[in-house]
Amino acid sequence: MLIPFLDLQTQYRAIQAELETAIRDVLAGGQFILGPTVEALEREVAASLGVPFGIGVASGTDALYLALRALDIGSGDEVITTPFTFIATASAIVLAGATPVFADIQPDSFNLDPAQVSKQVTPRTKAILVVHLYGRPAEMDPLLELARRHRLKVIEDCAQAFGAEYRGRKVGSLGDAGCFSFYPTKNLAAYGDGGMVVTKDPAVAERVRLLRHHGSVDRRGYQEMGVNSRLDELQAAIVRVKLRYLEGWNERRRKLAAFYNELLKGANLVTPSPSDGIQPVFHQYTIRIPHRDAVKVQLEAFGIETRVYYPIPLHLQPVFQSLGYQKEDLPEAEQAAQEVLSLPLYPELSEEQVKEAAGAVTALVG
Ligand SMILES: Cc1ncc(COP(=O)(O)O)c(C=O)c1O
Repeated sequence: MLIPFLDLQTQYRAIQAELETAIRDVLAGGQFILGPTVEALEREVAASLGVPFGIGVASGTDALYLALRALDIGSGDEVITTPFTFIATASAIVLAGATPVFADIQPDSFNLDPAQVSKQVTPRTKAILVVHLYGRPAEMDPLLELARRHRLKVIEDCAQAFGAEYRGRKVGSLGDAGCFSFYPTKNLAAYGDGGMVVTKDPAVAERVRLLRHHGSVDRRGYQEMGVNSRLDELQAAIVRVKLRYLEGWNERRRKLAAFYNELLKGANLVTPSPSDGIQPVFHQYTIRIPHRDAVKVQLEAFGIETRVYYPIPLHLQPVFQSLGYQKEDLPEAEQAAQEVLSLPLYPELSEEQVKEAAGAVTALVG
C-alpha cells in the first residue's frame, strides 16, 4: 500500500462543497484584497487564540519580518533563535536588518534550550525568536522569564503550531507577537501563500497593518517604508472554512501520534516524548533513528514516504557562512539533523496506514 507523506486531495474532497461556496462568494462579491473576508478571518483567528488582534499578511515569512519591524528590531540588533528550523525563521531576521544568533536545542523537544539562549544574551540582544517546531510548544516559561530579565521581546514562530497549547494557553498568545503561516501543507492552510501576525499589543497591530500596505496611512500619506504583503480574500475564505475543522483535525493528529508511539514502543528509535503542560498539534510526527538515511531509502521502497526536517542546521548553511559558525558549535542541532525522520501524519491517514508504516519502521530498525 502506498502511504503518501501528505494527502491534501482527500481533505479537499471532504469539505469541497463548503470551500467552493466560500470561493464563489468572494468571486461574486468582487473584492479581492483586504476586504471583509480577511477582516472576518483576522477576528476569528484572534478569538481562537485568545488575543485581541490578528493581521493577515502574505506569508509566514512576511509575518515574521513584519513582526520584527513592528517591534523596532533592525540594524545593529541581535535576535537569538534556533538553528533547527526552516530557513525563513532566520532569513526574516536578516531581512529586517538584524543579526541572527543561534542557540542550541533540547534533544528531546527539538526546540530552543533556555539555558543555551541565556548564554547568548549580549548588550545587543533585542529579542528571542522561538519556534514551536513540528507543532510542539517550546519551553516558554523560562524563555519569557529570561526575556523579562533582559528586557527582550519574544516573537513566536507558530508556522507549524496553530492550536498548540502551553500550560493552557495557545501558542502565539504568549510573546509580544505570534506569527503563523497558511502555506498549503500547514495544519491550518490556504491553497496558496498566506500568513498572520497576532498580538496583544495595539501598537504592534497598528504598525503591522501599516507596514503590510506600503506604510500607507490613508492611501495618500506614506508614514514609513512598508511592503506589499497582504492576505487576499480568496485565501482568507479558504482558511475560514478550514478553521472550523481545525480542532477536530488537531485532535485526530494527536490520536494518530499516540498510536504511532504505542506501536513503536520498544523499537530501536526515539519517539516524540509527552511532556507535562504542553499540548502539541503534531504538524510532523518525527522520530530519531540510527542509520536514518538508509532507513528512509528502504521505507521509500515499501511505498512509505518520509521527510527529513531539517538535514542541515541553519548555522551550517552556506547562506549564513558570514556569521562565522563552525561544525560542532551547536552539537544537539547537528546530531538531530543526522537522526530525525518524519513519518506520514495527517488527519486523513487511517489507523491501518499508521500500523503499516510503524510495522515497516520496526522491521527495519529492530
Ligand atoms: C518554522 C517555519 N517558519 C516559517 C515558515 C515560513 O512560512 P511561509 O512558507 O508561509 O513563508 C515556515 C513554513 O514554511 C516554517 O515551517
